[in-house]
Amino acid sequence: MTLFRLDASIRADGSASREIADIVEQEWLAAHPGDTVERRHIGVDVLPADAWGNAVSGGFAAPEDRTPEQESAVKLATTLTDELVNADAVLLAVPLYNWGVSQHFKAWFDLIMTDPRVRAPEGLLPGKPLVLATVRGGGYGPGTPKHGWDYNTPYLQRMLGELWGADLTVVERELTLAEVNPAMEPLRPMAAQQHAEALDAAREAGKAFGV
Ligand SMILES: Cc1cc2nc3c(=O)[nH]c(=O)nc-3n(C[C@H](O)[C@H](O)[C@H](O)COP(=O)(O)O)c2cc1C
Repeated sequence: MTLFRLDASIRADGSASREIADIVEQEWLAAHPGDTVERRHIGVDVLPADAWGNAVSGGFAAPEDRTPEQESAVKLATTLTDELVNADAVLLAVPLYNWGVSQHFKAWFDLIMTDPRVRAPEGLLPGKPLVLATVRGGGYGPGTPKHGWDYNTPYLQRMLGELWGADLTVVERELTLAEVNPAMEPLRPMAAQQHAEALDAAREAGKAFGV
Protein backbone atom coordinates (compact mmCIF):
# COMPACT_ATOMS: atom_id res chain seq x y z
CA MET A 1 0.00 0.00 0.00
CA THR A 2 1.06 3.57 -0.55
CA LEU A 3 0.78 6.69 1.56
CA PHE A 4 1.12 9.98 -0.31
CA ARG A 5 2.49 12.81 1.83
CA LEU A 6 2.55 16.47 0.87
CA ASP A 7 4.39 19.11 2.93
CA ALA A 8 3.58 22.75 2.25
CA SER A 9 5.68 24.41 4.98
CA ILE A 10 8.34 26.70 3.57
CA ARG A 11 10.82 25.25 6.04
CA ALA A 12 12.13 21.77 6.60
CA ASP A 13 13.51 22.27 10.14
CA GLY A 14 11.40 23.25 13.14
CA SER A 15 8.15 22.85 11.25
CA ALA A 16 5.09 22.27 13.43
CA SER A 17 3.07 20.85 10.54
CA ARG A 18 5.85 18.39 9.74
CA GLU A 19 5.99 17.34 13.39
CA ILE A 20 2.32 16.35 13.26
CA ALA A 21 2.67 14.71 9.85
CA ASP A 22 5.74 12.75 11.03
CA ILE A 23 3.66 11.21 13.82
CA VAL A 24 0.80 10.34 11.49
CA GLU A 25 3.25 8.82 9.02
CA GLN A 26 4.96 6.79 11.76
CA GLU A 27 1.58 5.41 12.89
CA TRP A 28 0.75 4.53 9.30
CA LEU A 29 4.04 2.68 8.88
CA ALA A 30 3.56 0.90 12.20
CA ALA A 31 0.28 -0.47 10.89
CA HIS A 32 1.71 -1.19 7.42
CA PRO A 33 5.35 -2.17 7.85
CA GLY A 34 7.32 -1.98 4.63
CA ASP A 35 4.77 0.18 2.87
CA THR A 36 5.80 2.94 0.53
CA VAL A 37 5.55 6.63 1.40
CA GLU A 38 5.55 8.87 -1.66
CA ARG A 39 6.51 12.45 -0.81
CA ARG A 40 6.27 15.88 -2.30
CA HIS A 41 7.55 18.96 -0.45
CA ILE A 42 5.96 21.81 -2.36
CA GLY A 43 7.10 24.46 0.13
CA VAL A 44 10.74 23.76 -0.73
CA ASP A 45 10.64 22.01 -4.13
CA VAL A 46 8.30 24.61 -5.53
CA LEU A 47 6.03 23.95 -8.51
CA PRO A 48 6.48 26.40 -11.40
CA ALA A 49 4.15 29.38 -11.03
CA ASP A 50 3.33 29.47 -14.75
CA ALA A 51 2.35 25.79 -14.96
CA TRP A 52 -1.26 26.34 -14.01
CA GLY A 53 -2.00 28.82 -16.85
CA ASN A 54 -0.30 26.51 -19.33
CA ALA A 55 -2.22 23.50 -18.03
CA VAL A 56 -5.53 25.37 -18.35
CA SER A 57 -4.88 26.57 -21.91
CA GLY A 58 -3.27 23.21 -22.81
CA GLY A 59 -6.41 21.45 -21.61
CA PHE A 60 -8.47 23.40 -24.15
CA ALA A 61 -6.06 22.63 -27.02
CA ALA A 62 -5.93 19.41 -29.00
CA PRO A 63 -2.90 17.41 -27.74
CA GLU A 64 -1.11 17.76 -31.09
CA ASP A 65 -1.58 21.55 -31.03
CA ARG A 66 -0.14 22.14 -27.54
CA THR A 67 2.99 24.22 -27.09
CA PRO A 68 5.89 22.45 -25.31
CA GLU A 69 5.07 24.52 -22.18
CA GLN A 70 1.41 23.46 -22.30
CA GLU A 71 2.38 19.81 -22.85
CA SER A 72 4.75 19.82 -19.91
CA ALA A 73 2.18 21.57 -17.65
CA VAL A 74 -0.56 19.09 -18.57
CA LYS A 75 1.88 16.24 -17.81
CA LEU A 76 2.74 17.80 -14.45
CA ALA A 77 -0.96 18.08 -13.56
CA THR A 78 -1.46 14.44 -14.52
CA THR A 79 1.49 13.37 -12.37
CA LEU A 80 0.23 15.32 -9.34
CA THR A 81 -3.24 13.85 -9.74
CA ASP A 82 -1.85 10.32 -10.20
CA GLU A 83 0.05 10.69 -6.92
CA LEU A 84 -3.23 11.29 -5.10
CA VAL A 85 -5.43 8.87 -6.98
CA ASN A 86 -2.93 5.99 -6.86
CA ALA A 87 -2.30 6.32 -3.11
CA ASP A 88 -4.26 4.29 -0.57
CA ALA A 89 -4.17 7.18 1.88
CA VAL A 90 -3.16 10.84 1.76
CA LEU A 91 -1.44 13.05 4.33
CA LEU A 92 -1.31 16.82 3.75
CA ALA A 93 0.66 19.16 6.04
CA VAL A 94 -0.48 22.71 5.28
CA PRO A 95 0.31 25.75 7.49
CA LEU A 96 -1.67 28.99 7.58
CA TYR A 97 0.15 31.77 5.72
CA ASN A 98 -1.22 35.31 5.49
CA TRP A 99 -4.63 34.06 6.65
CA GLY A 100 -4.97 31.60 3.80
CA VAL A 101 -3.21 28.85 1.89
CA SER A 102 0.21 29.59 0.43
CA GLN A 103 0.77 30.18 -3.26
CA HIS A 104 2.69 26.89 -3.27
CA PHE A 105 -0.31 24.94 -2.06
CA LYS A 106 -2.68 26.82 -4.37
CA ALA A 107 -0.43 26.07 -7.37
CA TRP A 108 -0.56 22.36 -6.49
CA PHE A 109 -4.32 22.41 -5.93
CA ASP A 110 -5.06 24.44 -9.09
CA LEU A 111 -2.96 22.13 -11.25
CA ILE A 112 -4.89 19.12 -9.97
CA MET A 113 -8.13 20.97 -10.67
CA THR A 114 -7.20 21.02 -14.38
CA ASP A 115 -7.20 17.21 -14.52
CA PRO A 116 -10.47 15.86 -16.00
CA ARG A 117 -10.71 13.31 -13.15
CA VAL A 118 -11.77 16.06 -10.72
CA ARG A 119 -15.07 16.26 -12.59
CA ALA A 120 -16.16 12.75 -11.51
CA PRO A 121 -19.56 13.15 -9.81
CA GLU A 122 -18.30 11.31 -6.70
CA GLY A 123 -15.25 13.58 -6.47
CA LEU A 124 -11.57 12.89 -7.07
CA LEU A 125 -10.92 10.91 -3.87
CA PRO A 126 -14.21 9.32 -2.85
CA GLY A 127 -13.91 7.79 0.62
CA LYS A 128 -10.10 7.90 0.56
CA PRO A 129 -8.58 8.34 4.03
CA LEU A 130 -6.99 11.78 4.17
CA VAL A 131 -5.38 13.41 7.20
CA LEU A 132 -4.89 17.18 7.06
CA ALA A 133 -2.28 18.50 9.50
CA THR A 134 -2.72 22.24 9.73
CA VAL A 135 -1.01 24.76 12.00
CA ARG A 136 -1.16 28.47 12.63
CA GLY A 137 1.04 30.88 14.51
CA GLY A 138 -1.78 32.79 16.21
CA GLY A 139 -5.09 31.90 17.83
CA TYR A 140 -8.43 32.06 16.06
CA GLY A 141 -10.92 30.61 18.53
CA PRO A 142 -14.24 32.26 19.45
CA GLY A 143 -13.67 35.47 21.41
CA THR A 144 -10.19 36.13 19.99
CA PRO A 145 -9.62 39.31 17.95
CA LYS A 146 -8.92 37.31 14.78
CA HIS A 147 -11.81 34.87 15.12
CA GLY A 148 -12.96 34.05 11.58
CA TRP A 149 -9.69 35.13 9.96
CA ASP A 150 -8.42 31.60 9.32
CA TYR A 151 -9.34 31.14 5.65
CA ASN A 152 -7.09 28.09 5.35
CA THR A 153 -8.83 25.44 7.45
CA PRO A 154 -12.45 25.93 6.31
CA TYR A 155 -11.32 26.19 2.68
CA LEU A 156 -9.35 22.96 2.89
CA GLN A 157 -12.17 21.17 4.71
CA ARG A 158 -14.58 22.09 1.94
CA MET A 159 -12.22 21.31 -0.94
CA LEU A 160 -10.80 18.04 0.37
CA GLY A 161 -13.85 16.67 2.13
CA GLU A 162 -16.78 18.04 0.13
CA LEU A 163 -15.35 18.68 -3.34
CA TRP A 164 -12.91 15.76 -3.56
CA GLY A 165 -15.01 13.48 -1.35
CA ALA A 166 -12.12 12.30 0.84
CA ASP A 167 -12.70 10.75 4.26
CA LEU A 168 -11.13 13.72 6.04
CA THR A 169 -9.57 13.94 9.50
CA VAL A 170 -8.14 17.32 10.57
CA VAL A 171 -5.37 17.63 13.16
CA GLU A 172 -4.84 21.27 14.13
CA ARG A 173 -2.42 23.23 16.27
CA GLU A 174 -2.58 26.95 17.07
CA LEU A 175 -0.22 29.43 18.74
CA THR A 176 2.89 27.89 17.19
CA LEU A 177 4.61 31.30 17.35
CA ALA A 178 4.09 31.73 21.10
CA GLU A 179 7.57 30.46 22.00
CA VAL A 180 9.38 32.84 19.63
CA ASN A 181 7.15 35.92 19.75
CA PRO A 182 7.71 37.95 22.97
CA ALA A 183 4.27 39.56 22.62
CA MET A 184 2.72 36.10 22.96
CA GLU A 185 4.53 35.25 26.19
CA PRO A 186 1.33 35.15 28.31
CA LEU A 187 -0.05 32.59 25.88
CA ARG A 188 2.83 30.14 26.29
CA PRO A 189 1.13 27.81 28.82
CA MET A 190 -1.92 27.60 26.55
CA ALA A 191 0.33 27.05 23.54
CA ALA A 192 2.16 24.22 25.31
CA GLN A 193 -1.15 22.58 26.17
CA GLN A 194 -2.36 22.91 22.58
CA HIS A 195 0.93 21.50 21.34
CA ALA A 196 0.56 18.41 23.53
CA GLU A 197 -3.08 18.00 22.51
CA ALA A 198 -2.16 18.26 18.82
CA LEU A 199 0.48 15.54 19.15
CA ASP A 200 -2.05 13.30 20.94
CA ALA A 201 -4.57 13.99 18.18
CA ALA A 202 -1.89 13.16 15.59
CA ARG A 203 -1.22 9.79 17.23
CA GLU A 204 -4.94 9.05 17.39
CA ALA A 205 -5.54 10.12 13.78
CA GLY A 206 -2.50 8.14 12.65
CA LYS A 207 -3.71 4.98 14.40
CA ALA A 208 -7.20 5.25 12.87
CA PHE A 209 -5.61 6.16 9.54
CA GLY A 210 -3.43 3.08 9.57
CA VAL A 211 -6.30 0.61 10.13
C1 LIG B 1 5.20 34.37 5.72
C2 LIG B 1 4.42 33.85 6.87
C3 LIG B 1 3.09 34.23 7.01
C4 LIG B 1 2.35 33.77 8.11
N1 LIG B 1 1.06 34.15 8.23
C5 LIG B 1 0.37 33.76 9.32
C6 LIG B 1 -0.98 34.18 9.50
O1 LIG B 1 -1.58 34.85 8.68
N2 LIG B 1 -1.60 33.80 10.63
C7 LIG B 1 -0.99 33.00 11.57
O2 LIG B 1 -1.64 32.67 12.55
N3 LIG B 1 0.26 32.58 11.40
C8 LIG B 1 0.95 32.93 10.31
N4 LIG B 1 2.23 32.52 10.14
C9 LIG B 1 2.81 31.61 11.14
C10 LIG B 1 2.75 30.16 10.67
O3 LIG B 1 1.42 29.73 10.49
C11 LIG B 1 3.41 29.30 11.73
O4 LIG B 1 4.76 29.72 11.90
C12 LIG B 1 3.38 27.84 11.38
O5 LIG B 1 3.91 27.11 12.47
C13 LIG B 1 4.18 27.55 10.11
O6 LIG B 1 4.12 26.18 9.79
P1 LIG B 1 5.40 25.24 10.05
O7 LIG B 1 5.72 25.32 11.52
O8 LIG B 1 4.95 23.88 9.65
O9 LIG B 1 6.54 25.74 9.22
C14 LIG B 1 2.96 32.93 9.06
C15 LIG B 1 4.29 32.54 8.89
C16 LIG B 1 5.01 33.00 7.80
C17 LIG B 1 6.45 32.56 7.65
